[in-house]
Amino acid sequence: MSNLNLDEIPNQKEKTAIVTGANAGLGFETTLELAKKEIKVIMACRNLNKGESAKDEILKQVPKAQLEVMEIDLSELDSVREFAKSFLAKHSSLNLLVNNAGVMMPPYQKTKDGFELQMAANYFGHFLLTGLLIDIITKTKNSRIISLSSIAHRNASINFKDMQSEQKYSKFGAYGQSKLACLIFSKELQRRLEANKKPNSISVAAHPGASNTELARHLPKLATILLTPFLLLVTHSPRNAAKPTLLASLGKDVDGGDYYGPQGFMEMNGNPGLAKAESQAYDVLTAKKLWEESEKLTDIEFLNY
Ligand SMILES: NC(=O)c1ccc[n+]([C@@H]2O[C@H](COP(=O)([O-])OP(=O)(O)OC[C@H]3O[C@@H](n4cnc5c(N)ncnc54)[C@H](OP(=O)(O)O)[C@@H]3O)[C@@H](O)[C@H]2O)c1
Repeated sequence: MSNLNLDEIPNQKEKTAIVTGANAGLGFETTLELAKKEIKVIMACRNLNKGESAKDEILKQVPKAQLEVMEIDLSELDSVREFAKSFLAKHSSLNLLVNNAGVMMPPYQKTKDGFELQMAANYFGHFLLTGLLIDIITKTKNSRIISLSSIAHRNASINFKDMQSEQKYSKFGAYGQSKLACLIFSKELQRRLEANKKPNSISVAAHPGASNTELARHLPKLATILLTPFLLLVTHSPRNAAKPTLLASLGKDVDGGDYYGPQGFMEMNGNPGLAKAESQAYDVLTAKKLWEESEKLTDIEFLNY
């Protein structure tokens, strides 16, 4: 499937979605479009003030939007557990889990669970969140779990010997590893949904290409200035960059295991369609090892086979 005409997608009033990192960038745009389709969206944000401001902004554009801001810090396992507990206490179905929140190239930081920050927020937090919500998702008809990857997965690998970059930290290397982990996870999740005969749900991945959002906040100022002319040429707006996620979330002919991204220059911009995943994203042995390691580190087991 390629291209996405949001106008052709019918309203889906009965659906509930969670979007992580819904207050900014692509998460905000994704929430806005889902709200336009009358989907109730739980805006899972780490800063409630920012979440409420984003909600107000969306309500200005979509006055009837059904939005709820809930707190989650994906870099802290306890916060993810708290979020899931509160969500499950209030809801009996979940059609869309959009694992969108992310951080890129911060200075080295170890989280209180002992993870490198990018692996924690981008990958482990979403792994645990998905595991805690898997029962409600798989009970809900036509449900999807969307994982956000990146072009940065292309040159990355999973360094099982030093996954938390304790011996050596490369900001970009760790970002790439976290985004590769999200893509491997998405494909492994689909295999496990099938193996466990969960026909209601599919796992789909997406990447936005390149878009000038707050994700670049940790880049050195000089690099940002030097890169600006190039970025102006190749990036697209957050609104367009959210389209692969929206295609994965709402598209008609989407299959489990699909990976969507923009179709323009080096998949950095353009209309959404099927994207190219590098071979390491398909490696089933790596996927199995990553899954088992993630279960151990986040203290959860789900969809075993
Ligand atoms: N922009 C791009 O060019 C690009 C390219 C490839 C992939 N992506 C991926 O797209 C996704 C969205 O990125 P974006 O460009 O929209 O970035 P963004 O504008 O920086 O938004 C990121 C969102 O994630 C939230 N977040 C960060 N750390 C979190 C944590 N520990 N717990 C909960 N929420 C957290 C942020 O909250 P705060 O506002 O509180 O910080 C914000 O809402 C990310 O997964 C990113 O890796 C983006």
